[in-house]
Amino acid sequence: MHTLNKNKRKQVKRKINIAIDGFSSTGKSTLAKKLAEQLAYTYIDSGAMYRAIALYFLRHDIDYEDHEEVAKVLPNITLSFEGQEICLNNENVDAEVRTLKVANIVSPVATIPSVRDFCVAQQQAFGKKKGVVMDGRDIGTVVFPQAELKIFLGASEEVRVERRYLELKYKGQEVSREDVRTNLLKRDEIDANREYNPLRKAEDAIELDNSALSVSEQIDFIVNWVNDRVASIEID
Ligand code: DC
Repeated sequence: MHTLNKNKRKQVKRKINIAIDGFSSTGKSTLAKKLAEQLAYTYIDSGAMYRAIALYFLRHDIDYEDHEEVAKVLPNITLSFEGQEICLNNENVDAEVRTLKVANIVSPVATIPSVRDFCVAQQQAFGKKKGVVMDGRDIGTVVFPQAELKIFLGASEEVRVERRYLELKYKGQEVSREDVRTNLLKRDEIDANREYNPLRKAEDAIELDNSALSVSEQIDFIVNWVNDRVASIEID
């Protein structure tokens, strides 16, 4: 007959939250998605939430410069994920939020404090159960200031322009490298200089420049850091 050894606790692999921040086109989402798959974590694309709100404003002709109007309509918006894909009021809009018409207004929309508070509250709820990889601009500083692992991703301007250019070309969009550079630098400016929750590297974030690293090389680094963090918080 087996006796239960009450002193022997079951070994549970602890899950942590991983915050990945950085400027546009540093490869955050590609990395975050693959990392989540490898760790069997949930991936949340926080930028898609701002994009879905921008799409709602476009569809409903909301003047996003009128912040009173914005605050009034936010309660009509429900954001959720179908796997890794964003839904707006239960409609999968993942492809539509990646179009240029949304990209053109999302940065100013993401500067609006009521919009940010709305998204941050939901992002924090997603992280309650742990085991989340979330990428964005303020994840390590505002959304999960207590995240066990924070990464600030960087890449050289040339590499970022080339990646974005090839991505758009692959999608059949006719753009020049110079257009891409101008758009990237403008978005950097808006993201880093907005008054409310600007893009910042959290003090305790690890900086990872991936200009010369493949995705799997980055994942190897990060999985080691995850294992270190998990080992340091795991109880016997
Ligand atoms: O990561 P992305 O390009 O999909 O983000 C779209 C916009 O949303 C971009 O202008 C930055 C903004 N954003 C933000 O302000 N905070 C986040 N956590 C994620 C994105």
